Amino acid sequence: MCPPDYYGIHYSINPWMDVARQSDRPVALDQWRRLHDALVAAGARISLVPPAEGLPDMVFTANAGLIYQNRAVISHFRHEQRQGEEQHFRRWFNEHGFETSESPVDCCFEGAGDALFCGDTLFAGYRQRSDALGHQKIGARLGVRVLPLELVNAHYYHLDTCFCPLTADSAIWFPAAFDDYGQRVVRDNISQLIAVAEEEAHSFACNAVVVGRTVITNTGCPKLHADLRAAGFTPAATPLSEFVKAGGSAKCLTLRLDGEDAAAWRI
Ligand code: ARG
Repeated sequence: MCPPDYYGIHYSINPWMDVARQSDRPVALDQWRRLHDALVAAGARISLVPPAEGLPDMVFTANAGLIYQNRAVISHFRHEQRQGEEQHFRRWFNEHGFETSESPVDCCFEGAGDALFCGDTLFAGYRQRSDALGHQKIGARLGVRVLPLELVNAHYYHLDTCFCPLTADSAIWFPAAFDDYGQRVVRDNISQLIAVAEEEAHSFACNAVVVGRTVITNTGCPKLHADLRAAGFTPAATPLSEFVKAGGSAKCLTLRLDGEDAAAWRI
């Protein structure tokens, strides 16, 4: 995670962001701290990357890169407002024992925001932020199967805003964020799917952090939480309104360094 010292709405690069609707600094700090503590309570150990002044979105560490075993593929952001983060994340990964590699040349790639393992497959969102070709090149580099999913709704501009693997064969998703073909790909490849309602998708229900059987989301997702309980998970809600103002929530604020629970390579 990255502490929100320099967090704020300083520009607008997605439909959630409006510089006239500023985040409340003390509230944001408190919400970030509560998410941190909820993760620790769920059994996670947290490493921090130092925040950098002038990079307000650096709190969204899901976008630092893609982790595969001891490797980190460093992101290359679509928008120049976030490109300054790349050097900070690259340095952190290098200093913490990861073997780093760069995003494919001429491709944008926004890390675990757009590339999520479910089982042995890397599900990869493209069009809004990451490029389809880059995903395929990264899949070839890592030797994993990639299923590209086109993201058709600007509000769900990263895959992790509308899709969250829970285990190797189950996931949360918001079907309307995908076209018909993408919906078919998800249905044909993941046997247990929990669909979220539009109003809960809008509360970032899909932007969940999975730690074992605990699933942490923003508040305002009661239907999803009931479905998760029925499926044997333990949902937890923590308020993240100040980060939703930037188009992010629980999952965006974290990067799993030891592999997601749903990833076959870590199981
Ligand atoms: N303001 C950030 C952006 O638009 C939010 C990033 C959210 N991160 C995520 N993994 N969905 O890039």
